[in-house]
Amino acid sequence: MKTRAAVMYEHNQPVVVEELELDEPKANEVLVRTAASGVCHSDLSVVTGTIYYDAAVALGHEGAGIIERVGGDVSGFRPGDHVILSFVSYCGSCRMCQMERVCLCESYDVPRGFLLDGTYRLHNSSGDGILQMARIATMSEYMVVPQQNLVKIDEHYSLAKAALVGCGVTTGVGAVLNTAKVEPGSSVAVIGTGGVGLNAIQGAVLAQAERIIAVDIAEKKLNFAKTFGATDVVNASTCDPVEAVRELTAGLGVDYAFEVIGNPKTIVQAYNMVRAAGTAVIVGMSHHQSDVSIPAQHLVSTERQLIGSFYGSCQPKVDMPKLLSLYTEGKLKLDELITQHYRLEQINEAFADMEAGENARGVILFN
Ligand SMILES: NC(=O)c1ccc[n+]([C@@H]2O[C@H](COP(=O)([O-])OP(=O)(O)OC[C@H]3O[C@@H](n4cnc5c(N)ncnc54)[C@H](O)[C@@H]3O)[C@@H](O)[C@H]2O)c1
Ligand SMILES: [Zn+2]
Ligand SMILES: [Zn+2]
Repeated sequence: MKTRAAVMYEHNQPVVVEELELDEPKANEVLVRTAASGVCHSDLSVVTGTIYYDAAVALGHEGAGIIERVGGDVSGFRPGDHVILSFVSYCGSCRMCQMERVCLCESYDVPRGFLLDGTYRLHNSSGDGILQMARIATMSEYMVVPQQNLVKIDEHYSLAKAALVGCGVTTGVGAVLNTAKVEPGSSVAVIGTGGVGLNAIQGAVLAQAERIIAVDIAEKKLNFAKTFGATDVVNASTCDPVEAVRELTAGLGVDYAFEVIGNPKTIVQAYNMVRAAGTAVIVGMSHHQSDVSIPAQHLVSTERQLIGSFYGSCQPKVDMPKLLSLYTEGKLKLDELITQHYRLEQINEAFADMEAGENARGVILFN
């Protein structure tokens, strides 16, 4: 069958929207008609090579849709089901899965972008195989994905809003609640209040943090941050954010700092703005070849913790329906996250808007 998808053919060049041939789902695979795909910085990072994929790759890893057909051996899913796409495939039975760390599943040793049997489902008009970002490629009208990447949700949810739960919401909220396990009354700083960082702020509100300090270089983002529950804002383009955060916390530093940009410089800032025995949580995806340098002895003598958070340490099938329930209860903001809708053809415009800091989150809507 045919689909139209946003494809990265060359790093740092405009993304191409084109018609592709899509194979039928094989065993353990499902054909999904995409309803919506969020535009996350990680998509742009695939274009720039920060998150490295060989070309050509169909983009998108934050989406929701409706199941069209299922392949053999698929259990628990049928046509018509509404689903969120998880950007990790997890087996549910390996050591990490049994420890409920399913995002770190160790079962699938398949090169990036291929389906689990190591082959392509997407092909262009020249007959070349096209990889799928995160094995899903939500910036395609249709996608064939492993059943391990699907989370069934109730049909009454808006799929445009549910799409955001596929990455930004789960990553940001989960970094606070699952990875860091922030306690009530804590002080928290979030560096980078874009689509993911705003959700770290929402996570801090849910965790009943007392101080939530938003740090960004764009005034518009800091205004969004206030809407999402920041108690203080710091514009890092006009001051030293480490000093500013220390001043706001009586010279001590915060209990938790979340870096949600993907920049070694701001990772070091996160480390430097936590108090002794505090925790710096790194969510941003820096360039795959970059390193971070922190003073080795200081790490010991202050007992600070520097930890990573991948996909909010979530369990997609448990956490995603829970997050949607919190939305229904009025405890989680999803409507306010979507500040712009795009058509698939506008993907390069959506990336330009992201770089210009225009949106909380932009969302591509399919028919
Ligand atoms: N850990 C994970 O599993 C995971 C999942 C999704 C996204 N990510 C990563 O999270 C990061 C954020 O993604 P996003 O979609 O929210 O991006 P975004 O572009 O929406 O937001 C980034 C924000 O950082 C701000 N910023 C840039 N440089 C800054 C600086 N020096 N100081 C302060 N603020 C600065 C920007 O103004 C913007 O508001 C990316 O690196 C992305 O790849 C990680
Ligand atoms: Zn993402
Ligand atoms: Zn596993």
